[in-house]
Amino acid sequence: MHPMLTIAIRAARSAGDQILRAMDNVGQLQINNKGRNDYASEVDRAAEVEIIHTIRKAYPDHGILAEESGAQAGDSPYLWIIDPLDGTTNFLHGFPQFAVSIALKNKDKIEVGVVYDPLRDELFTAERGGGAMLNNRRIRVTKQTSLTGSLLGTGFPFKEQQHLDAYLGMFRGLFADSAGIRRAGAAALDLAYVAAGRLDGYWEIGLKQWDMAAGILLVKEAGGVVTDFSFRDKFMESGHVIAGNPKMHQIMYQAIEPNVTDSLK
Ligand code: IPD
Ligand code: CA
Ligand code: CA
Repeated sequence: MHPMLTIAIRAARSAGDQILRAMDNVGQLQINNKGRNDYASEVDRAAEVEIIHTIRKAYPDHGILAEESGAQAGDSPYLWIIDPLDGTTNFLHGFPQFAVSIALKNKDKIEVGVVYDPLRDELFTAERGGGAMLNNRRIRVTKQTSLTGSLLGTGFPFKEQQHLDAYLGMFRGLFADSAGIRRAGAAALDLAYVAAGRLDGYWEIGLKQWDMAAGILLVKEAGGVVTDFSFRDKFMESGHVIAGNPKMHQIMYQAIEPNVTDSLK
C-alpha cells in the first residue's frame, strides 16, 4: 500500500472516532454559521486539527487545503485536501449520514483518496492506478445502462439558490424515468456510493474541492467517469460534477446539458 494512503487512513479513522464520541453531545455543541445554510461546529474544527496533526507529523513539508482552516502552503508539490466532517448538517441533526474525506494531490493528479463513514465503519480507499476498495475489498461501478431502473444521487443547490431553476430542470430530466433520486447530504459518500455500485450516478452543483477530491478518485478507480457540466475535467475549479458508470454518465449528461446556463459551464 502507498505509504501516504496509510497516513490518510490513520488520520481519517482517528477523526472518525472523535466525531462518533462527540455525537452523544450534539445538543451542547457550539455551532457557527459560515454563510447561508453553511454550518460548522467545534467537532468539525477538532477533527480537522487531528487530521492535520497526523499528516504534518509524517509529511511536514506537504501543503494543506482544509475546509475549516484553509490553505497552508508547503515546500513540496503534494497537497492534502481535507473535509474533516462532510455532512455537518446531518451530523448536527443526528441524521446518520456523514464522513471524513481526505485526498492527496500531486500537482494536478489526485494520488490517494479516503472516505471514512465512522457510523458504519466503512472505509473507502483508492490509489491512482490501483483500484478502489471498501474495507479492503475491490469495488466497481454498476453495469446499469439505462435511466429506467437506475438509482441516482444528488445534492440540492442550497447555498447557491440562483441555480435552483437550472437544477430543477436537470431534476425533471432525470426524475421521470429513474427508479429514484436520493439526497443523502454528504457529497463524499455520494461519490463513494457510485464507486461501490450503490448508486448508478450522481450530480451536484457547486461543490468545493474538499467535498469531492477523494470521492472522484474513488469513482475513477472503480471504473466510472467524472466530468463537469461541459463534459470536461474542470470540476475541481467549477464544483459542478456528474459521476457514474460510463454509460450512465453519458445518459445523465444528455439530460443535464440542456439545462446548463452560462454560469454553470
Ligand atoms: C456539504 C455536503 C452536502 C453538499 C454540500 C456540501 P459539508 O458539505 O457534502 O451533501 O450538498 O454542497 O457543502 O458542509 O457538510 O462539509
Ligand atoms: Ca463537505
Ligand atoms: Ca465539512
